[in-house]
Amino acid sequence: MAVTVQQVFQWKQTGQPTPAIAVLTAWDTMSAHIVDQAGADIVLVGDSLAMVALGYETTLPLTLEEMLSSARAVRRGVKNALMVVDLPFLTYQISVEEAVRTAGRIFKETGAQAVKLEGGHSGVIDIIRHLRQWDMPVMGHVGLTPQSVNQLGGFRQQGKSPAEADRILAEALALQEAGAFAVVLEHIPASLAEAISTALAIPTIGIGAGPGCDGQVLVTADVLGLSTWQPPFVRVYAQLRETAIAAAQQFCDQVRTGEFPGANP
Ligand code: KIV
Repeated sequence: MAVTVQQVFQWKQTGQPTPAIAVLTAWDTMSAHIVDQAGADIVLVGDSLAMVALGYETTLPLTLEEMLSSARAVRRGVKNALMVVDLPFLTYQISVEEAVRTAGRIFKETGAQAVKLEGGHSGVIDIIRHLRQWDMPVMGHVGLTPQSVNQLGGFRQQGKSPAEADRILAEALALQEAGAFAVVLEHIPASLAEAISTALAIPTIGIGAGPGCDGQVLVTADVLGLSTWQPPFVRVYAQLRETAIAAAQQFCDQVRTGEFPGANP
C-alpha cells in the first residue's frame, strides 16, 4: 500500500516500520520507477531537477509548467512511495492566494500527496497555514535553501554561528507549529541537525546534515553518479555516467565499423 503523510509522521513516534526514512528524488517516469522499486519511502520531485535534468545553473529559472510536466511523469512511475513536489521559485512568494493556487495545481494536475517549500520566515509560515487550512500537506525545508543561493552567496553550509543556529532551530519549530508534517534540514552542522531532530515531534529529513536526522535524502542523479558534479556530503553508489558514455561510444564505433547491426537475425 502506498505510503501516506500520516505514516511518515507516525514513523517518528514509533520507529516503525523503518528506523529511518529513505528519500530520493525523481524527475521523470524512469527515475521514478527506479527509486520506487528500490524501496524509497518518499519520492521527491525536487526543484533540483532544474539543474539535474534541464541544464539550468540554479533552481531559480524552473517554471511551474516545467515542474508540472516532470511531476506528472514521476506520478506515472511511482506506485508505493509518498510523492512530494517542490514549489518552484517565484510561484508562491508573491501572495498566499498565489501559493494556494500553485500548490492546488500541483495536487490537482500531478497526483502529488504533499508539496515542499523553502524557508522558515514569517511569510513562509503564513503560506503553510493557508495551505494546511485547505488540507494540503506541506514539507518544510530550512538550512541551505537553494532558492536563496544569491542571498547566501553560494551553496554553502548554514548554521555555523550560534545566532544562525538559533534562527534555523526557531524556523524549524515554527514550521512544525504551522502544520508541516516533516522538514528537510540541508547542509547544516550535524550537532545542530541532531538538536533540531530532538526538539521536533515531526520527522527531520537530512541532506548534508549528519546522522542525527529521522531520515536522509539525496538527489538520485548524484547517488547514481549521473551528475557531472556532486556536493561534498553526497555518497556516490554507482558510476552510471561513465558506464553510459562507454556504452554509447561502443554503439557509435560499431555503427561506423559495420559491426552493428550485423546480419539480419
Ligand atoms: O530539490 C531537491 O532535490 C531538494 C532536495 C535536495 C532536498 O530540495
